[in-house]
Amino acid sequence: MADSYQPVAGDTLDRDSMTLSQHVLQQLDSFGPEAQDLSALMSRIALAGKLVARRLTRAGLVEDALGFTGRENIQGESVKKMDVYANDVFISVFQRSGLVCRLVSEEMDDIYDIPENCATGRYTLLYDPIDGSSNVDINLNVGSIFSIRQQGEDTDKTGADLLTSGRDQVAAGYILYGPSTVFVYSIGKGVHAFTLDPSLGEFILASEHIQIPAHGANYSVNEGNFWQWEDPYRDYIRYVHRHEGYSARYSGALVGDFHRILMQGGVFLYPGTLKKPDGKLRLLYESAPLAFLAEQASGKATTGKQLILDVDPDQIHMRTPLIIGSSEDVALVESFLQERELERPPVTSGRTLG
Ligand code: AHG
Ligand code: MN
Ligand code: MN
Repeated sequence: MADSYQPVAGDTLDRDSMTLSQHVLQQLDSFGPEAQDLSALMSRIALAGKLVARRLTRAGLVEDALGFTGRENIQGESVKKMDVYANDVFISVFQRSGLVCRLVSEEMDDIYDIPENCATGRYTLLYDPIDGSSNVDINLNVGSIFSIRQQGEDTDKTGADLLTSGRDQVAAGYILYGPSTVFVYSIGKGVHAFTLDPSLGEFILASEHIQIPAHGANYSVNEGNFWQWEDPYRDYIRYVHRHEGYSARYSGALVGDFHRILMQGGVFLYPGTLKKPDGKLRLLYESAPLAFLAEQASGKATTGKQLILDVDPDQIHMRTPLIIGSSEDVALVESFLQERELERPPVTSGRTLG
């Protein structure tokens, strides 16, 4: 008699079918309320990412997708139409979600309250809707960055409860809109990447427990600001110019540059400049979420004086200098900042040229 068909509850389709929401539940090994919330939060952020990706893909074909709005945001930066679109996408995705009670965005001066969610919404979402928006009009990679914090007990209009260190993030991640759309996240249990399968409309698991290599060849910094840096940063750049084994890579979008470093190692820097002494990047929705990922992946993120995750913000749009990436490469930059030349780590693949 022929063997009867026995369905296997298991592995056959796992690689092709592990979605983001399943992955969160699996990581927490629970179907409890917190796991359900985090799973739903990731699904909603993923939906925002799919909507933004769709708009970007067709940006050259539709009205009012490219170019500037003519307005400036609270940081004094010219706002692009795509910044506004993506900001509105995140708002509409989270309205009536019952998940987040407040939003904080690069594109909104003040905290955006969603009172109808507050009865059940135990979280605040902080985000950069389009990171690297100068790349939008030339069809290069951009991203969205997000950070999730637990809603405090005694919240007020000022958002004072949000002014705590990045160690209070419960989840963080980004969406990279490149040749494919990639979702990278951590809930404090490693860093995991998902790729959007357009035929399914789902983010499918691509890499789990990503570790940043301890050293990488890439250094990523806007060298056009050299004249505006303090001497230790100039000395660091002179050092990499004079040693074999380094490659400059800078895309103008932090998410893309960080993703390269997460996967291949190296260091990204945005130091303070004469014009912007605290650098350009915002702590709560740029530097802190990426620092959370970096530490989860055995990398490091610092202002040069303090670990990014230890910085207590003084306001929601606070900026900090950022040095982030492979532990050895961040340590090399720090060795210049701290004038610890004698302790400078040896660069095994490098060769001094002079
Ligand atoms: P945003 O588009 O959200 O304002 O962020 C742009 C940031 C970051 O993505 C990038 O690394 C950096 O600004 C580029 O700035 P410079 O053009 O000054 O190098
Ligand atoms: Mn940004
Ligand atoms: Mn932005």
